[in-house]
Amino acid sequence: MTDHRANRPAPGVEIELVVNGATRSAATEDRVTLADFLREGLGLTGTHLGCEHGVCGACTVLLDGEAVRSCLMLAVQARGRQVTTVEGIADGDDLSPVQLAFRESHSFQCGFCTPGFVMSTVALLAGNPNPDEREIRETLSGNICRCTGYESIIEGVLLAARRNVEAGLPG
Ligand code: FES
Ligand code: FES
Repeated sequence: MTDHRANRPAPGVEIELVVNGATRSAATEDRVTLADFLREGLGLTGTHLGCEHGVCGACTVLLDGEAVRSCLMLAVQARGRQVTTVEGIADGDDLSPVQLAFRESHSFQCGFCTPGFVMSTVALLAGNPNPDEREIRETLSGNICRCTGYESIIEGVLLAARRNVEAGLPG
């Protein structure tokens, strides 16, 4: 029996959202995840895909300032909202404070997990500029590093937090 549905074009949905401060729109299918939309629809491949089912944290982005796993939500759910990816936190060639702290602390090896750790850290420090080590470990417990460089990642977050204190941010 012929399945006539297989020959139908996939339904297109126009999505408009604000990504890294700029309004972006693109057509996609309603079943496409936010991660795939960012990577394939908008070419923002800094958001990595590891497990694709919410376990590794590699796909973490900010949605209206909150860290979310972009593999677990549909692109249509982000319609009209503010999304920040790892491409959006640097100022041109100037790395963001978290990226600088990670670089100086050697907080990565292969770097695959790094965008997710960085975005989780950005969200953490936005809510609490000077978290203690327990809070950092708890927040980052949802991010997995296959190279197991966790100690240097924690060092990177602590360095960024120390700099927040030096800059006079409340903590
Ligand atoms: S790719 Fe989204 S949590 Fe692993
Ligand atoms: S640095 Fe390789 S997976 Fe984390």
